[in-house]
Amino acid sequence: MDFYQQHAIITGGSSGIGKAIAIMLAKEGANLSLIARREDILSQAKAEIEAAKASPEQKVICLSASVTQFDDIQTAINQGIEELGPPDLLITSAGMAHPGYFQELPLEVFEDTMNVNYFGTLYAIQSALPSMIKQQQGHIVMISSVAGLVGVYGYTAYSPSKFAVRGLAESLRGELKQCGIDVSVVYPPDTDTPQLAAENLIKPEETKRITQSTKIWTAQEVAEVIVKGMKRREFAITPGVEAKMIQNFHSLLTPITHWYFDRLVNQKGD
Ligand SMILES: NC(=O)c1ccc[n+]([C@@H]2O[C@H](COP(=O)([O-])OP(=O)(O)OC[C@H]3O[C@@H](n4cnc5c(N)ncnc54)[C@H](OP(=O)(O)O)[C@@H]3O)[C@@H](O)[C@H]2O)c1
Repeated sequence: MDFYQQHAIITGGSSGIGKAIAIMLAKEGANLSLIARREDILSQAKAEIEAAKASPEQKVICLSASVTQFDDIQTAINQGIEELGPPDLLITSAGMAHPGYFQELPLEVFEDTMNVNYFGTLYAIQSALPSMIKQQQGHIVMISSVAGLVGVYGYTAYSPSKFAVRGLAESLRGELKQCGIDVSVVYPPDTDTPQLAAENLIKPEETKRITQSTKIWTAQEVAEVIVKGMKRREFAITPGVEAKMIQNFHSLLTPITHWYFDRLVNQKGD
């Protein structure tokens, strides 16, 4: 059994990409702590994940907490550790996206998005880290986004929060390596999840034109790439050739992405 198959903590493990990873890890024998706010959605996810377990001895526990409240997330993670032991793997998948025109978005959207996506990631890591450091092993996997590599029209609240996650992963990687802890950062492309469905209801037309030009992945497809990348201890995990090109060459590609995005945005009225 791989070390991370013993206890994996997944924030946002009740839905979408987080749940798809949880199902894959359950199939491989992991014990899981799932953290999210809504208890009914957590219970539904638990049933699905339980059904995928490799053995009846595996445990799946649900912990209701908001990643934006440090005390709450710390309490939840400590409870997970008490019940299932030190975490070998922490995946921070809890996230939100609220697209819109910059001038129309209230300040709270920017603050909430940063609180969930960036501080929610940071708080979970701070809570799980002491236990990983004690073991001198562990793996932290942060979910950023392709929008954390390139700024996208209509994502002035979301993109910066995912850039921040990328910055955290890049700067934390070297520090934690000294303690035997691996760090990975994931840049998923558009993925068919409740988050994407909610975004599509409020996305500016220009943003739709940009995002509709790429393939929509399933959560399972994304989870498969993430689990494979985790097993190889890849630092940057990027599903798909298009996203990989952006991840490797985003600075060089900036003039091309700007030209391409502007072209799609200006198609209005064509
Ligand atoms: N779907 C995409 O196209 C896409 C693309 C790139 C990156 N991503 C990123 O991938 C991650 C997973 O997204 P998804 O698409 O799988 O979304 P999803 O299906 O909507 O799942 C989001 C999860 O996060 C939890 N969550 C949200 N706010 C939370 C909070 N304050 N505290 C604790 N848990 C919270 C949700 O549960 P509760 O609401 O019950 O708390 C849910 O479990 C996110 O970080 C997202 O930004 C998604």
